Amino acid sequence: MTDTPAAQSGTVYVLNGPNLNLLGLREPEIYGSDTLDDIAGMLEDKAREHGLTIEMRQTNYEGMLVDWLHEAQAEGARAVLLNAAAYTHTSIALLDAIRAITIPVIEVHLSDPKTREDFRHLSYVGMAAAKTIEGHGAASYTIALDAVINGEV
Ligand code: DQA
Repeated sequence: MTDTPAAQSGTVYVLNGPNLNLLGLREPEIYGSDTLDDIAGMLEDKAREHGLTIEMRQTNYEGMLVDWLHEAQAEGARAVLLNAAAYTHTSIALLDAIRAITIPVIEVHLSDPKTREDFRHLSYVGMAAAKTIEGHGAASYTIALDAVINGEV
Protein backbone atom coordinates (compact mmCIF):
# COMPACT_ATOMS: atom_id res chain seq x y z
CA MET A 1 0.00 0.00 0.00
CA THR A 2 1.24 3.47 -0.81
CA ASP A 3 2.12 5.59 2.21
CA THR A 4 -0.04 8.58 3.03
CA PRO A 5 1.76 11.58 1.54
CA ALA A 6 3.77 13.72 3.93
CA ALA A 7 3.12 17.46 4.02
CA GLN A 8 4.12 18.76 0.60
CA SER A 9 7.78 19.75 0.33
CA GLY A 10 9.51 21.89 -2.27
CA THR A 11 11.39 18.91 -3.65
CA VAL A 12 11.09 17.87 -7.27
CA TYR A 13 12.28 14.33 -7.94
CA VAL A 14 13.94 13.88 -11.33
CA LEU A 15 14.06 10.16 -12.07
CA ASN A 16 16.03 8.78 -14.99
CA GLY A 17 15.92 5.27 -16.38
CA PRO A 18 18.23 2.91 -18.24
CA ASN A 19 21.23 4.07 -20.26
CA LEU A 20 20.74 7.72 -19.30
CA ASN A 21 23.93 7.46 -17.21
CA LEU A 22 25.67 7.45 -20.61
CA LEU A 23 24.08 10.70 -21.73
CA GLY A 24 26.63 12.86 -23.58
CA LEU A 25 28.35 9.78 -24.99
CA ARG A 26 25.31 7.81 -26.05
CA GLU A 27 24.05 8.47 -29.60
CA PRO A 28 24.73 12.24 -29.31
CA GLU A 29 23.08 12.83 -32.70
CA ILE A 30 19.79 11.79 -31.04
CA TYR A 31 20.26 12.75 -27.39
CA GLY A 32 22.74 15.66 -27.58
CA SER A 33 26.04 16.23 -25.82
CA ASP A 34 24.84 17.32 -22.37
CA THR A 35 25.47 14.81 -19.60
CA LEU A 36 23.00 14.01 -16.84
CA ASP A 37 25.21 16.08 -14.49
CA ASP A 38 24.90 19.04 -16.88
CA ILE A 39 21.11 18.66 -16.83
CA ALA A 40 21.13 18.39 -13.03
CA GLY A 41 23.06 21.68 -12.90
CA MET A 42 20.54 23.45 -15.16
CA LEU A 43 17.63 22.16 -13.09
CA GLU A 44 19.27 23.08 -9.78
CA ASP A 45 19.94 26.65 -10.95
CA LYS A 46 16.34 27.14 -12.02
CA ALA A 47 14.91 25.39 -8.96
CA ARG A 48 16.99 27.53 -6.57
CA GLU A 49 15.54 30.73 -8.09
CA HIS A 50 12.08 29.45 -7.18
CA GLY A 51 12.81 28.02 -3.74
CA LEU A 52 12.65 24.42 -4.95
CA THR A 53 15.11 21.55 -4.47
CA ILE A 54 16.04 18.94 -7.09
CA GLU A 55 16.48 15.27 -6.17
CA MET A 56 18.23 13.87 -9.27
CA ARG A 57 18.57 10.09 -9.66
CA GLN A 58 19.38 7.52 -12.36
CA THR A 59 19.02 3.76 -12.40
CA ASN A 60 19.17 0.97 -14.94
CA TYR A 61 16.62 -1.09 -12.94
CA GLU A 62 12.86 -0.92 -13.45
CA GLY A 63 11.88 -1.77 -9.85
CA MET A 64 14.13 1.00 -8.52
CA LEU A 65 12.07 3.53 -10.48
CA VAL A 66 8.92 2.05 -8.90
CA ASP A 67 10.46 2.36 -5.41
CA TRP A 68 11.52 5.95 -6.06
CA LEU A 69 8.03 6.92 -7.24
CA HIS A 70 6.63 5.53 -3.97
CA GLU A 71 9.34 7.40 -2.06
CA ALA A 72 8.53 10.68 -3.80
CA GLN A 73 4.92 10.28 -2.67
CA ALA A 74 5.90 9.33 0.90
CA GLU A 75 8.24 12.34 1.11
CA GLY A 76 5.52 14.70 -0.14
CA ALA A 77 7.48 15.74 -3.22
CA ARG A 78 6.07 18.68 -5.18
CA ALA A 79 6.28 16.66 -8.45
CA VAL A 80 8.28 14.04 -10.32
CA LEU A 81 9.95 14.53 -13.70
CA LEU A 82 10.31 11.01 -15.09
CA ASN A 83 12.41 9.99 -18.07
CA ALA A 84 11.85 6.25 -17.86
CA ALA A 85 13.85 5.79 -21.11
CA ALA A 86 13.10 2.40 -22.70
CA TYR A 87 10.86 1.35 -19.78
CA THR A 88 8.47 4.05 -21.03
CA HIS A 89 7.47 1.68 -23.80
CA THR A 90 7.29 -1.58 -21.84
CA SER A 91 6.50 -1.02 -18.18
CA ILE A 92 3.00 -1.63 -16.87
CA ALA A 93 4.63 -1.56 -13.41
CA LEU A 94 5.52 2.12 -13.95
CA LEU A 95 2.02 2.87 -15.27
CA ASP A 96 0.55 1.32 -12.12
CA ALA A 97 3.03 3.12 -9.85
CA ILE A 98 2.14 6.52 -11.34
CA ARG A 99 -1.56 5.71 -10.92
CA ALA A 100 -0.91 4.59 -7.33
CA ILE A 101 0.47 7.96 -6.23
CA THR A 102 -1.23 11.34 -6.08
CA ILE A 103 1.66 13.71 -6.77
CA PRO A 104 1.97 14.89 -10.38
CA VAL A 105 4.37 13.03 -12.67
CA ILE A 106 5.61 14.70 -15.85
CA GLU A 107 6.89 12.38 -18.57
CA VAL A 108 10.12 13.72 -20.08
CA HIS A 109 12.08 12.67 -23.16
CA LEU A 110 15.07 14.27 -24.85
CA SER A 111 14.06 12.94 -28.26
CA ASP A 112 10.53 12.74 -29.65
CA PRO A 113 9.76 9.02 -29.49
CA LYS A 114 6.61 9.52 -31.64
CA THR A 115 8.81 10.39 -34.64
CA ARG A 116 11.11 7.39 -34.17
CA GLU A 117 10.69 3.61 -34.50
CA ASP A 118 7.15 2.24 -34.14
CA PHE A 119 8.02 0.46 -30.89
CA ARG A 120 8.65 3.85 -29.27
CA HIS A 121 5.18 5.17 -30.13
CA LEU A 122 3.49 3.40 -27.22
CA SER A 123 4.05 5.05 -23.83
CA TYR A 124 2.76 3.36 -20.68
CA VAL A 125 4.15 6.28 -18.68
CA GLY A 126 2.19 8.73 -20.85
CA MET A 127 -1.07 6.89 -20.07
CA ALA A 128 -0.81 8.05 -16.45
CA ALA A 129 1.43 11.15 -16.55
CA ALA A 130 -0.06 14.60 -15.91
CA LYS A 131 1.86 16.00 -18.87
CA THR A 132 4.48 14.96 -21.46
CA ILE A 133 7.42 17.09 -22.62
CA GLU A 134 9.49 15.55 -25.41
CA GLY A 135 11.73 16.39 -28.33
CA HIS A 136 13.56 19.44 -26.93
CA GLY A 137 16.84 17.74 -25.97
CA ALA A 138 18.11 18.68 -22.50
CA ALA A 139 15.63 21.57 -22.50
CA SER A 140 12.79 19.04 -22.14
CA TYR A 141 13.79 18.80 -18.48
CA THR A 142 13.84 22.57 -17.86
CA ILE A 143 10.54 23.01 -19.74
CA ALA A 144 9.06 20.33 -17.49
CA LEU A 145 10.38 22.12 -14.40
CA ASP A 146 8.83 25.36 -15.69
CA ALA A 147 5.49 23.54 -15.87
CA VAL A 148 5.86 22.71 -12.17
CA ILE A 149 6.95 26.27 -11.30
CA ASN A 150 4.05 27.76 -13.27
CA GLY A 151 1.56 25.52 -11.50
CA GLU A 152 0.55 23.70 -14.69
CA VAL A 153 0.57 20.41 -12.80
C1 DQA B 1 14.24 8.53 -24.34
C2 DQA B 1 13.45 7.93 -25.49
C3 DQA B 1 13.30 6.43 -25.31
O1 DQA B 1 12.59 5.89 -26.43
C4 DQA B 1 14.66 5.76 -25.25
O2 DQA B 1 14.51 4.38 -25.00
C5 DQA B 1 15.58 6.40 -24.29
C6 DQA B 1 15.59 7.85 -24.14
C7 DQA B 1 14.52 10.04 -24.54
O3 DQA B 1 14.81 10.71 -23.57
O4 DQA B 1 14.46 10.52 -25.67
O5 DQA B 1 16.40 5.73 -23.66
O6 DQA B 1 13.48 8.40 -23.14
